[in-house]
Amino acid sequence: MELQSLTQTLGSEKIRTDKESFQNYGKDWTKHISANPSAIVFPTSTQDVVNIVQWARKNKVALVPSGGRTGLSGAAIATHGEVVVSFEKMNKILEFNEFDQTVRLEPGVITETLQNYAKEKGLLFPVDFASRGSSQIGGNIATNAGGINVIRYGLTRNWVSSLEVVTGEGKVLHLNNSLIKNASGYDLRHLFIGSEGTLGFITQAEVHLSRPTQNPTVFLFAVPELSGVMKIYHSFKKQIPLLAFEMFTDVAMGYVLKHTGLKPPLSEEAPYYVIVELENDSENTMETAMAIFESSMEQGWLTDGTISQSAQQAKDIWRLREDITEATSPWEPYKNDVSVRISKVPEFLTEVDQVLKTEYPAFETVWFGHIGDGNLHINILKPQNMTSAEFIENCHKVDEILFEKIERFGGSVSAEHGVGLTKKPYLHHTRSHEEIAYMKAIKAVFDPDFIMNPGKIFDESN
Ligand code: MLT
Ligand code: ZN
Repeated sequence: MELQSLTQTLGSEKIRTDKESFQNYGKDWTKHISANPSAIVFPTSTQDVVNIVQWARKNKVALVPSGGRTGLSGAAIATHGEVVVSFEKMNKILEFNEFDQTVRLEPGVITETLQNYAKEKGLLFPVDFASRGSSQIGGNIATNAGGINVIRYGLTRNWVSSLEVVTGEGKVLHLNNSLIKNASGYDLRHLFIGSEGTLGFITQAEVHLSRPTQNPTVFLFAVPELSGVMKIYHSFKKQIPLLAFEMFTDVAMGYVLKHTGLKPPLSEEAPYYVIVELENDSENTMETAMAIFESSMEQGWLTDGTISQSAQQAKDIWRLREDITEATSPWEPYKNDVSVRISKVPEFLTEVDQVLKTEYPAFETVWFGHIGDGNLHINILKPQNMTSAEFIENCHKVDEILFEKIERFGGSVSAEHGVGLTKKPYLHHTRSHEEIAYMKAIKAVFDPDFIMNPGKIFDESN
């Protein structure tokens, strides 16, 4: 590969070709796919990114964007000798606009850094998830990241007020200029959000902030039957605006307790646990929440529960849910991240439960999710004596059953983790052939040489 001219343009300090960097920057958190990049480049400006794209076009080299590398669908893995473009060094917060309540920043800013910055200004950046300490805002935008507060604040998309991107033609676009109202044609900003770097790379963004939440308070419930989960959800949803509504199983809880050394939080054990978070902003809210708690208990939908009395207690309860990914990671989970519309969740959960029991009798499955968004994470743990290839083959067989169900329910094969490499073969269960053809046509407009994260979401041919 002709790296010399790129080295001359960027400077040798911005390029690495050592094995350690390949392993480190060549992939994200996705298991069972290996990294095989040719070089890692570290732009420090938009002009650097333009130069990289122009060099890649000229030399017919594919590029893979890389942020905090916390992705779980393989969108940030270089498998075919691509050059990885790490945004790690473009990590400055550039400007706070107090009047507009917006922050202009570079893509490599860590999500938690932005959250803390917003807090210092007395405001809130509400996109939040367990990987907040590693994930970067550019990756959050490129994948339209979801997380634990979507039920209240929506997806990352809702918070992006403008974008600067470098397209696959090496052109710089400034999109939307933080206008709230802008009815001047297609909103290209939203096309780039969630495009997984397949149209262009984000080099700057402006996000807007929210007022902070008032006294967030967390409930943890032990739930004996799967059907109870959505009954509890419905009771809350009807009466109180929720910040989060999450579910996980006793198996998931077991892994977290073992991994963290935390004590079991409730005296009663149950097959399912639910976390409800709400703003304790008035006596009235708490009275209503307590009444729902009590009536759910009377109905037998829950058998035990606890309420956080302090910020620390709230954090401890959240760890039971947020630490699941890390606690199960040594078992190299095969991950599915699916969604259906809320009203279909009860029926869908029952059917999925049945599939998991009959199709995976020998595998341990850990499921959890943002159930208030209709989003379920299904993790299959790899038995230690099984090869990765054998395990994946087994999981793919069940994928076919699961995704046919998803199609029947009108759901999505990827709720929030993206398509990347791992969900690419199943995209047609969620998107029609016509829709996929339009997506490909759109890619060809912005990336005529097919160099921007090629092979992610869909392949050029077929
Ligand atoms: C989560 O909800 O914890 C994340 O999506 C990560 C995961 O699914 O492992
Ligand atoms: Zn999630």
